[in-house]
Amino acid sequence: MEVRLVPLSLERVNDYVRWFNTAVVRKRLMPETPRTKNMISNWINVTVSDSASQYFSIFLPEENVYVGHVGLKCINTAQKTAEIGIVIGEPLFWRKHIGTLAFKELLKVSPDEIDSLNAIIDKKNRPSILFFLSLGFTNSKNQCGKSNKLVFHIPPQ
Ligand SMILES: CC(C)(COP(=O)(O)OP(=O)(O)OC[C@H]1O[C@@H](n2cnc3c(N)ncnc32)[C@H](O)[C@@H]1OP(=O)(O)O)[C@@H](O)C(=O)NCCC(=O)NCCS
Repeated sequence: MEVRLVPLSLERVNDYVRWFNTAVVRKRLMPETPRTKNMISNWINVTVSDSASQYFSIFLPEENVYVGHVGLKCINTAQKTAEIGIVIGEPLFWRKHIGTLAFKELLKVSPDEIDSLNAIIDKKNRPSILFFLSLGFTNSKNQCGKSNKLVFHIPPQ
């Protein structure tokens, strides 16, 4: 299956409203994830104009459909770290290795200055923790509160 990353834009707002309000998806998202069309539009605008964020929509050219997003936030070139976010918003497309392929595409376009990625996941989101472990993330020594922190060291290109 081919996976293409397309820079995030307001054109996807209606997809996001559906994804972030689908019950099985919603229960896996962080509680602060925007829900209404206004909140989501605002989040897209802020994210697109934030130089410390780089988000992409995940497009499947063969199916001609957008299925979610993957991206980086809190890009910190001094510490050489960033935090990854990923959502496959269409549950019918879960477990088809789309998340894995999107992660590989993300690595290709990540800033050269970054050498490790953090994933902050609610401890109850076991499927997501298993997903990140399958990508090669490992549990960080610095854990915090209700979230699990996993770390991925980007191999030199
Ligand atoms: C987590 C998520 C991104 C995974 O994407 P995906 O495309 O479904 O995952 P993949 O098909 O690439 O899975 C790769 C591997 O991860 C593990 N994995 C993924 N989903 C899993 C699940 N539900 N249960 C157990 N293991 C899982 C498996 O090892 C899998 O390999 P396998 O299917 O060959 O056994 C997707 O399910 C999702 O968006 N969930 C809702 C939102 C979310 O939790 N986002 C992350 C936290 S904010």
